[in-house]
Amino acid sequence: MLRLENLCKRYPTGDEALKSVNLEVPDGQVMALIGPSGAGKSTLIRCVNRLVEPTSGSTRLNDLELTGLSRRRLREARCRMGMIFQEYALVERLTVMENVLSGRLGYVGFWQSWFRKFPAKDVSEAFRLLDRVGLFDMADKRADELSGGQRQRVGIARALIQNPELLLVDEPTASLDPKTSRQIMRLVCELCKERGLAAIINIHDVLLAQMFAERIVGLRLGEIVYDGPPDGLTPDVLTDIYGEEDWSETIRAVDDDEKENGKTGILALDPVKEPTQQTPTQV
Ligand SMILES: Nc1ncnc2c1ncn2[C@@H]1O[C@H](COP(=O)(O)OP(=O)(O)OP(=O)(O)O)[C@@H](O)[C@H]1O
Ligand SMILES: [Mg+2]
Repeated sequence: MLRLENLCKRYPTGDEALKSVNLEVPDGQVMALIGPSGAGKSTLIRCVNRLVEPTSGSTRLNDLELTGLSRRRLREARCRMGMIFQEYALVERLTVMENVLSGRLGYVGFWQSWFRKFPAKDVSEAFRLLDRVGLFDMADKRADELSGGQRQRVGIARALIQNPELLLVDEPTASLDPKTSRQIMRLVCELCKERGLAAIINIHDVLLAQMFAERIVGLRLGEIVYDGPPDGLTPDVLTDIYGEEDWSETIRAVDDDEKENGKTGILALDPVKEPTQQTPTQV
């Protein structure tokens, strides 16, 4: 369980990005965080792992109070939280395998990592994860030879090899085409279910959020203005979150999509093929 209590962030510029946010995310829950640009979505995610230092309030991950940890303890705590980024944040000149193994850097010693010597069990776990995300045959490819979808799969495997309790995901599909976006969202959600992992996924695409997340939290100007199920996102609620617009098209798009796919389970659309059956062109 992740618990945020009265979390506030005021940047030195005076921007009040989070205004006393209270939020609980139980184990195994996939939550989408939506809201207009500047609402504070990235700030919230980054306050959790303290890439951004909260101004006040408390953040607890299970038994551990994250605010106030020393640098060393924070490094250990960050191993418990996997992060997936919009721009993948891979090391371009390293291989897929090396990028995945870099997720273990919080665990292996400095010299081991300097010589890129990882325990055999980490390497076999990396292969297992690459298989799961559909990249088994690409372990030796350099990151700069991959497509966007493939890069994000590496980012997912790198986050999971940490064996985290929580996934923090910031705009995972913003640089991807619509089909790849769905595949990536589906993969993240399936992996969370398989591992009982909680996730906060920042996402601009309301339709994707509704399709894949079991809970939606809407943020506006640093405050939570909606917290509920995907089908509670009525035009009025969307207006609360984003402001005045015609939301009927968005709502209709979800309805159509569900009808087209015989409804409704979140994972019922275009099921992911077994990773071993995937070819690079499908990514
Ligand atoms: N490093 C920073 N210094 C000062 N102000 C910042 C900084 N980062 C973010 N802000 C401000 O905090 C507010 C929230 O920004 P944040 O990046 O968290 O929003 P967001 O919801 O992630 O937006 P987007 O959808 O565009 O990514 C904005 O007003 C932004 O200008
Ligand atoms: Mg952001």
